[in-house]
Amino acid sequence: MQKSEIKALIAKMTLEEKAGLCSGGDFWHTKAVERLGIPAVMVSDGPHGLRKQDLKADHLGVNDSIKAVCMPAACATAASFDRDLIGKMGRSIGSSCQHEQLSVVLGPAVNIKRSPLCGRNFEYLSEDPYLAGEMAAAYINGVQSQGVGTSIKHFAANSQEHRRMSSSSNADERTLREIYFPAFETAVKKAQPWTVMCSYNRINGTYASENKWLLTDVLRGEWGFEGFVVSDWGAVSDRVKGVEAGLDLEMPSSGGYNDKRIVEAVRSGRLDEKYVDLAVERILNIVYRYVENAKPETPWDKEADHLLSAKIAEECMVLLKNNGALPIKSGEKAAFIGEFAERPRFQGGGSSHINSFKVTSAVDAAKAEGRDFTYVKGYDVSSDTATDEMIAEAVKAAKEADVAVVFAGLPDSYESEGYDRSHMRLPECQNRLIEAVAEANPNTVVVLHNGSPVEMPWIDKVNAVLEAYLGGQAVGIAEVDLLFGKANPCGHLAESFPIKLSDNPSYLYYGGEGNEADYREGVFVGYRYYDKKEMAVLFPFGHGLSYTRFEYSDLEISKPEIADNEELRVRLKVKNVGEMAGKTAVQLYVGDKKSTVMRPVRELKGFEKIHLEPGEEKTVEFVLDKRAFAYYNVGIHDWHVETGEFTIEIGESSRDIRLSGTVKVNSTVKIKPRYTADSIFMDIMSDPDAVRKIEPFIKKMRGDQSAASETSEAAAEAVTDDMGNAMFNYMPLRGLVMFSGGGVPGDLIDKVVETLNS
Ligand code: BGC
Repeated sequence: MQKSEIKALIAKMTLEEKAGLCSGGDFWHTKAVERLGIPAVMVSDGPHGLRKQDLKADHLGVNDSIKAVCMPAACATAASFDRDLIGKMGRSIGSSCQHEQLSVVLGPAVNIKRSPLCGRNFEYLSEDPYLAGEMAAAYINGVQSQGVGTSIKHFAANSQEHRRMSSSSNADERTLREIYFPAFETAVKKAQPWTVMCSYNRINGTYASENKWLLTDVLRGEWGFEGFVVSDWGAVSDRVKGVEAGLDLEMPSSGGYNDKRIVEAVRSGRLDEKYVDLAVERILNIVYRYVENAKPETPWDKEADHLLSAKIAEECMVLLKNNGALPIKSGEKAAFIGEFAERPRFQGGGSSHINSFKVTSAVDAAKAEGRDFTYVKGYDVSSDTATDEMIAEAVKAAKEADVAVVFAGLPDSYESEGYDRSHMRLPECQNRLIEAVAEANPNTVVVLHNGSPVEMPWIDKVNAVLEAYLGGQAVGIAEVDLLFGKANPCGHLAESFPIKLSDNPSYLYYGGEGNEADYREGVFVGYRYYDKKEMAVLFPFGHGLSYTRFEYSDLEISKPEIADNEELRVRLKVKNVGEMAGKTAVQLYVGDKKSTVMRPVRELKGFEKIHLEPGEEKTVEFVLDKRAFAYYNVGIHDWHVETGEFTIEIGESSRDIRLSGTVKVNSTVKIKPRYTADSIFMDIMSDPDAVRKIEPFIKKMRGDQSAASETSEAAAEAVTDDMGNAMFNYMPLRGLVMFSGGGVPGDLIDKVVETLNS
């Protein structure tokens, strides 16, 4: 439908009809307006498959939904560092939406992993905003290529579940712009999601659902978002304020309560009707975009998607450690230990919970492949215990095998939407089991099923660790193929694994006090903090091993010096020098060598996943623009590059840098400082323009000072050069009045300030 036709339709609607359209008809549908032939459309969770509910609706994943395919969760897919792969997953989900007549899938979820404790980390992509943005955009483009929409969520700064509907995420603007916003910004700019879902929480005191700065000024004004904003389910506090702020659709239905408030506000003159019209227009644009692209006849081959899910899982799992136990060689006998081998945990709890049409465990997959293995339960997930008999049985199985594989991880109750974790440990019974098995067989491998980092007190005692994350319903196929070397691990961590929880930068403040959650670590989230503090971590951001080895060479940086509005090309070669075909995630980090603002040592600004046959070499090229070098300058409310040298590092992880070079970037933006009588000499003297203007005054003051010092030799001895310089540097302009021995009268300072600002 043309824009003009939608406008004409709105002109025919009554105020009540328009207000009504601004909230859901029920839990999952928009409202229909039968009189005008406006249809209702359905939306559904998301993000890694469909949770389409029929009759009993809820947002907690309590009631059943249709049988669907559960793909790996975002904690896993981000670790693929592979845009094409997540794009493929998006296309498959988009196509199943067509089959199920869903207009929008509620995802991707892109909130930043500020702490390993966030109960919903399994559903989020990364601690790094660049990676999260790139992967989100690829997912959105994939889904939307099928003619259905997405709802990127939860906008914004929703990095904890604790008090999620009332807490205020208090962060300074630079932190929001550099860490918590870019995933949304990139997705909007590169993929234009049909909808954005605002978060439950407040941001610096104002609910996201009524935050005009967030929903209108930044999202639409600066980034150019064209779709509609939907509330998270139940995120509306003041509906009228929300309409004015740019929240178009309230979900789920408020039973007419908030619709009435909108009508009253318009009638009483408190709300301009143009805001209601705008919200309706945005909603109808999307409703008709879906209706006109609907293809209900689209087939849904769930078996094919099951295999796709296995393939995706295989490319996400991260080989964290390997002293040679993996891959399990032919002729070697394996012992699979732990209930997750038979009944894997492959998805998280809450609104993303999918009713999988089938599940393939590692035991199923190993049987199907005819692998030589035994299985013992090891621990009981439901009671979260391991009896002495179970452990003894596991030890016996481990002793009788060449390789013991413990399938460990977090039971559902340990992490879920709705609440945060209170610690970072595995169940105590599983740690005990791993220790006992490792003692019995040095070739012990641990396979982890978890949505967020865990402490590994046994790390030095086991031979290998495979991080399977929450790998979707076909998780077992991927695990067995990787364990036995049919496939080569190629996932890289999208988050740092700290040694212990208290190492995490948000540790002191996470969760907040009452409703105030202060993001005091600022931009130093994840590796940005660990690298700056030079701290040891268990596994660094970007880390991931392979059964082959990659060699990096021939770094070329297109120019030694660029202006900040120019692009820089970075090229390098990667060669597979091992025996097995494999993939790696080539990572590019940028660091500002010297800066007047506090900046991380390195930040991810590019990545490419490449496949190499043994002996094969490929050239990888990155193009960097201004954003790769910039920080967000709160003074000018814009991205800014300070003139200077930047490091360009190429690595296999943030701590495994293989090549590095530098480039000088020259700023083309002159920031004109505003001076006052409180401005100190250090700042003034570092600005050549200001120095020129102030020189006559300085000369005069210096003259007066030397005259004064001639009279007191004792004073000269007491004041070293360093001290004198520091005193001068840190002195405000107004200090001239007091320290010039009467040479500078007070009203002259006003003139100096005026001259400086001229
Ligand atoms: C979640 C959203 C979800 C919605 C609908 C909310 O509780 O935060 O991510 O899309 O419910 O189920």
